[in-house]
Amino acid sequence: MRAHPAGPLHGAFAPPPSAGMPPADLGALDEQVWPRSARRVDGELHLGGKPVTELARTHGTPLFVLDEGDFRGRAADFATAFDGADVHYASKAFLCGQVARWIADDGLHLDACSGNELAVALAAGFPAERIALHGNNKSLVELQLAVDAGIGHVVVDSFDEIDRLVPMALARMEAGGSPVSVLIRTTVGIEAHTHEFIATAHEDQKFGFSLATGDALTAAVRVIREPALHLAGLHSHIGSQIFDTAGFEAAAHRVVGLLGQVHQATGEVLEELNLGGGFGIAYLPDDDPVTPHDVAERLRTVVAAECAALDLPVPRLAVEPGRAIAGPGTVTLYEIGTIKPVRLGSGGQGAPQVRNYVSVDGGMSDNIRTALYDASYTCVLANRTSDAPPALCRVVGKHCESGDVLVRDLWLPSDVQPGDLLAVAATGAYCWSMASNYNYLLKPPVVAVRDGAATEIVRRQTLLDVFALDAVLAGRPAPSPAIDQPAPEHPVGARS
Ligand SMILES: Cc1ncc(COP(=O)(O)O)c(C=O)c1O
Repeated sequence: MRAHPAGPLHGAFAPPPSAGMPPADLGALDEQVWPRSARRVDGELHLGGKPVTELARTHGTPLFVLDEGDFRGRAADFATAFDGADVHYASKAFLCGQVARWIADDGLHLDACSGNELAVALAAGFPAERIALHGNNKSLVELQLAVDAGIGHVVVDSFDEIDRLVPMALARMEAGGSPVSVLIRTTVGIEAHTHEFIATAHEDQKFGFSLATGDALTAAVRVIREPALHLAGLHSHIGSQIFDTAGFEAAAHRVVGLLGQVHQATGEVLEELNLGGGFGIAYLPDDDPVTPHDVAERLRTVVAAECAALDLPVPRLAVEPGRAIAGPGTVTLYEIGTIKPVRLGSGGQGAPQVRNYVSVDGGMSDNIRTALYDASYTCVLANRTSDAPPALCRVVGKHCESGDVLVRDLWLPSDVQPGDLLAVAATGAYCWSMASNYNYLLKPPVVAVRDGAATEIVRRQTLLDVFALDAVLAGRPAPSPAIDQPAPEHPVGARS
């Protein structure tokens, strides 16, 4: 049985640390894991040419620091690798006005999976025709927004949704508009995560139309017969943080099979095949993700072979990377507040094992992934390097929750102290976008760094922002001293 995520003290034994052996250099920045611009300058971490102490002083902590060159470089890598295909940035990973503009300017497409993600993209001026809208329960309002804005595709996910969409599409056509372009989201019966995939499982979930039951074919035929809808193609998405291409290949095989069935049943040759997102990234130095170039080559080869076998023309490919574009280029900076050594037990040879609980000024409200998915992260002491021997640590947040863990097991220099800055790597995807106000902590700002300049692209939430939602507190001043301002340096601080 799994121990309580906070630690094993409730049990009678001390499990071996899952941190592995301490690395030779505790301050090393593995290039797979850290943003492309990350450097140590006189021991201090610099991102986009900016020292982290300056960023923390100016913007406070916790702070998301986004390396613009890394983010846009990875988007460009996908665009180049998938030349001739459509690369949709999956905006659920991280979206704000500035990111929408970068993606628009760099020529990519964008995936929204709610009406509000769509609204953010449109408000930032993102070209509607390059947006696809996902969602298993799109409301009438969300669908109407998509239809009125003239987005590229609605990725339909249920028969109810088709029923809702048809009258809107008819009204648009009656007003002189074009049919609404649609992809059918299919459930291909494949689940892939990280190192493995299961090709017989995962029908039992909420997304898409099942291939196995014939619902996907029924939906496709239904859409084709609706004059106000245009069936542009098929979509499948098989999971996230995938490290090899076998699952995509199996999915491509199945979904191209459906292209063939649709052709047989209706004579229609569909023009697009969207194989979704899920390309993995390195959170830890040992992680070994595939490159966009290799994924693109494999997918092209497999789709071409499957189409040739069915005597079908090769459709235009589309993919939806989110994490692989947004994830690696962002780092979260935290300030250490307290350090608590906790004895774990004898550790086998009689020597007491100790784990330092290093508490920082954020936590599960700005990164829920460790608590939610048991995700693995790494972090370094950021404001300086140290020659002190390694100490087994667990980096935890300040929430009233023992599962509030950011980095479960790692080695940090044993002289880390309150006031030091920690940088957690690869937090660009599904961290800010999943942030909450648990314990009334405030959502951190996002600062984009590039060539020695820093721009706050999302400001820190204030207590007054939160008060404004409260029937009793709206309009009231926050108590003094204001606790939503960047913290003054900790008195014990070791920031250089
Ligand atoms: C339909 C769809 N496309 C793309 C993505 C993006 O996945 P990732 O960020 O892992 O690339 C997701 C993630 O859940 C998704 O559901």
